[in-house]
Amino acid sequence: STQARINIAIDGPAGAGKSTVARHVARELGYIYIDTGAMYRAVALHMNRRGISPDEPERAIEEMKQLQVELIPGEARQTILLNGEDVTELIRTPEVSLQASKFAQIALIRETLVHMQRQLAERKGTVMDGRDIGTHVLPHAEQKWFLTATVEERARRRYVEWQGKEQITMEQLIKDIAERDHQDATRAISPLKQADDAMLLDTTYMSIDEIVQRMVKQANSILDGE
Ligand code: DC
Repeated sequence: STQARINIAIDGPAGAGKSTVARHVARELGYIYIDTGAMYRAVALHMNRRGISPDEPERAIEEMKQLQVELIPGEARQTILLNGEDVTELIRTPEVSLQASKFAQIALIRETLVHMQRQLAERKGTVMDGRDIGTHVLPHAEQKWFLTATVEERARRRYVEWQGKEQITMEQLIKDIAERDHQDATRAISPLKQADDAMLLDTTYMSIDEIVQRMVKQANSILDGE
């Protein structure tokens, strides 16, 4: 209706439905979807390949100079490049998930990626998902959401997603997710936390479409009000 564009921040724990919802909302509004978790995953994959552990922050920080992460938005999905290599599929493993959460505790890694994220959102018209978008990356985002779901439901979603790809049990998934939640919510820098002005949605019993329509409606009402 108007030329105005907004930024939408979506935060929450692993498996709350953020990325699926964000992708759909972006498509409906003609916006760009920015998956910040993919950036942390690409960094973790790179460090793993170099044999650098999250317990060696100095080496990891030094290695950041050799590392280029690029996020290329696309119609169906985004592509993530690590020093020019397409790692979009490679970063979707249970190991990389946990490692990403560990490397995400290192200040300089966060600062580097947050800087890139803010640049990507500068011209607005983005839907960005992560853990610290509403609280730290885009504190002035026009719309903020915090998605949650029970740990069992989130594990079930990951199980469906990974079926046939990964040999992992429901039990192990619940354990992994709980560990990651704890790590992400208790770290010193920009921990996972609902922003004061974010709207909370428990997605346990909601369909993707329901959530998407809620968000699009809300976005349109903000845009119409401007
Ligand atoms: O969204 P995801 O599950 O792909 O993210 C992987 C990890 O990266 C997550 O467990 C913590 C970290 N992360 C972060 O610290 N800040 C973000 N904005 C996004 C992800």
